[in-house]
Amino acid sequence: MTEAVCQRCIHPACSAACALDETGFVCPRCGGLLDVVYDWARVPVPRSLAEFESKWAQRSNPLHFSGVWRFRELFPFAPPESILTIGEGQTLLQRADAVAGFVGLDPGRLFLQYEGMNPSGSFKDNGMTAAFTHARLVGARRAACASTGNTSASLAVFCSATGLMRAVIFIGSGKISYGKLAQALDHGALTVQIAGDFDDAMLRVQQVARKLGIYLVNSINPFRLEGQKSIMLRVLEGLRWEVPDWIVVPGGNLGNVSAFGKAFLELSELGLIPRRPRLAVINASGADTFYQLFEKHGVRWNGGQPEKKLIDGYYAGLDAEKIRAATIASAIEINHPVNLFKALRALEACGGVVREVTDQEILDAKARVGAGGFGCEPASAASVAGARKLRQEGVLEPGERVVCVLTGHQLKDPTATVAYHSTDQKTFDEVLGHRGVRRATYANRAVQVPNDLDEIIKAIEVYS
Ligand code: F0G
Repeated sequence: MTEAVCQRCIHPACSAACALDETGFVCPRCGGLLDVVYDWARVPVPRSLAEFESKWAQRSNPLHFSGVWRFRELFPFAPPESILTIGEGQTLLQRADAVAGFVGLDPGRLFLQYEGMNPSGSFKDNGMTAAFTHARLVGARRAACASTGNTSASLAVFCSATGLMRAVIFIGSGKISYGKLAQALDHGALTVQIAGDFDDAMLRVQQVARKLGIYLVNSINPFRLEGQKSIMLRVLEGLRWEVPDWIVVPGGNLGNVSAFGKAFLELSELGLIPRRPRLAVINASGADTFYQLFEKHGVRWNGGQPEKKLIDGYYAGLDAEKIRAATIASAIEINHPVNLFKALRALEACGGVVREVTDQEILDAKARVGAGGFGCEPASAASVAGARKLRQEGVLEPGERVVCVLTGHQLKDPTATVAYHSTDQKTFDEVLGHRGVRRATYANRAVQVPNDLDEIIKAIEVYS
């Protein structure tokens, strides 16, 4: 490598390098995914992770305040003066004993990494600050994404907060929750609603970005994933730099798991962690490509040469049978994950597994997470539902230390929540019935009372 930082094809047999300011985001030689890679011998890295704690004393510096950039020595692709931050990544790893009981873990063994506390309400801001910084470095004036709602909300917030770029977002029609659509509209993004779903929108945005020279911020952009590595750095920080046994994360476009795997690979390479945690990716059963390929068809990273024929055959089967992704967890309603190969690499590096959970399991887990004091959207609860499943299978031991990532805020998608807790069967059936959700075991129903003081008091005495 001649430069200290460049982009490089993830497939070892190709390994083509491209310059830091390239924005095609696919390998010019083989069309594969790209990594941002560093020559660690030529950039200053800390001798131990605890060195990052010195930044806590300097939180008036925005780059130290950011929960992403205070770890910037571990993704040094941008000079500090070019970094764009809106205070993202102020998120916490929190012990969740009530939820641990639901999952089947011993008290003190389950932690929730609550990414809903980000400025736009989801983990996406961790990646967006990095992509946005790169976009500014290359002089972009417009930035685009396809989205199930959170990437677009994040892009819209970054564009409106900085005034530096115009946001162009592609969403599938009728496929985005109101909370997320509200963010895109309120923050002034050009919102293109196409007749199709996320997978259709993802293909189109890549074509449009190429044709019009618009900067693409989907997680195919490797700089996005550099920022998302910080989620795992904060997890380690929350555990006083000890490595947990398991990280459990919902899988959609598979950007997070790819970023997490890269983070742990690099930390091992730098000698900053003694071992890597295991990774569990949880698909919704109505959008379970990764589960099918990894667990059912045995597709593996295989030194950078996964069995493409199997994968192509799987996709051809979906197309032939006109199978589209369908889940109440709209954030992960994706059948063609763009980061599939990087995710396979991550699972190989971290002894990974993939599971799928039904919409029923997702909403039940979400209600338990809510009752335990954490508000998350349906897709996020897939991680907790998946941890419970892995525990029931005996893959997780009750005494293992498990971190579930709660990827997005509860208020992103109140429709599903209200329907689950609804007293009104019609609302329940209309919103959830066609998704195969039949019961609301953990529903907290509103109590209907006449407008009468005695009746109100009676109801409170009965129910409290
Ligand atoms: N959880 C939430 C709340 C999400 O918004 C997403 C992805 C995921 C999980 C899946 O993460 O793609 O890294 O596997 N949302 C994207 C979007 C696709 O457009 O907002 P992943």
